[in-house]
Amino acid sequence: MAKVVTVFGATGHQGGAVVRALARDPNFKVRAVTRGDSQCDKVQNLTSCGTEVLTCNFNDVTSIKQTLIGADACFVVTYTDFSNADCMDEELKIGRNFAKACAASGVKHVLYGTQLNTLNIIGIAARHLVAKAQIQEYFMEENLPMTYILVPCYYENLFDYLKPEKIDNKSFRLAIPMGTTPLDMVCVEDIGEIAKLVFKNKEKFLNKTLSVAGDKITIKEIAATLSRYLAPTNFKDRQITLTEYRSLPYPWAKDFANMFDFFLRVDQRYNVQYTKQNYNPKMQTFSDWVQANVEKLRQEFNK
Ligand SMILES: NC(=O)c1ccc[n+]([C@@H]2O[C@H](COP(=O)([O-])OP(=O)(O)OC[C@H]3O[C@@H](n4cnc5c(N)ncnc54)[C@H](OP(=O)(O)O)[C@@H]3O)[C@@H](O)[C@H]2O)c1
Repeated sequence: MAKVVTVFGATGHQGGAVVRALARDPNFKVRAVTRGDSQCDKVQNLTSCGTEVLTCNFNDVTSIKQTLIGADACFVVTYTDFSNADCMDEELKIGRNFAKACAASGVKHVLYGTQLNTLNIIGIAARHLVAKAQIQEYFMEENLPMTYILVPCYYENLFDYLKPEKIDNKSFRLAIPMGTTPLDMVCVEDIGEIAKLVFKNKEKFLNKTLSVAGDKITIKEIAATLSRYLAPTNFKDRQITLTEYRSLPYPWAKDFANMFDFFLRVDQRYNVQYTKQNYNPKMQTFSDWVQANVEKLRQEFNK
């Protein structure tokens, strides 16, 4: 009988990747959960791959629990809304609700997208990371059958959070404060197959944390790869400092500056080879991903 998996954040990057991977496999039956006011095209993408779409209120434990009744497993990722000054409290509240709903429903396996606690490790708060580490503790307190996945920076951030700055029609600068330290990265779509492996092999992955990565590259290398595939457009590392990044006019600037500071100081032990050998042999390198997305990247940068 097909395994029923409830996927939260299903219209988003990670949840969407998990839905698509599970929907391709007849051994799974997917319940994709949204908050109900999601963009129509995103919901349509879910229904067109044969997925049942449910709505629920993340502020209500009973509402979350309803989407889990009869489910064999679930994928949970919590969202940081940087436009809300209290985004961390908000995420923690929702995370606690998820943990309580999972416990009340008796779901037999939970895969949660966690992060490391930058505050406990080096005393600085990247709130989107600290919240997830704290929520991991909520899940642990409920004694749930857990697996955790640590996901690094997506290549897809080049379309939004880390979009290169346009200098003129032919030149762009990457403002990512990593100096010459390589950044661990991943194609978020590749997370889907990893989640599927975890759900298929519950016993093997119970109480484990998977650190997954597709590449480890410097900002200079990112710029060189973009320049190679998007020529004659040229990309360079702007070599922005953490202090400068912190003062950028984005609601996430301070948290991201703290996150990059953390990445500069703490090796998170992501291992590309290990990920390929043990979790997904088809993990894309940054170069693979750029090659597959040349037209989309051109269109985005020329907007
Ligand atoms: N960007 C990265 O490189 C990266 C790497 C690792 C981890 N993460 C973490 O991943 C988390 C988000 O995952 P994602 O990238 O899959 O998300 P995403 O693509 O930004 O989508 C988030 C989904 O969450 C739902 N959502 C819940 N509360 C929301 C709110 N208050 N405002 C807007 N949408 C909300 C939305 O679904 P509905 O509208 O359908 O309800 C949306 O589709 C973030 O908190 C981030 O910290 C990001």
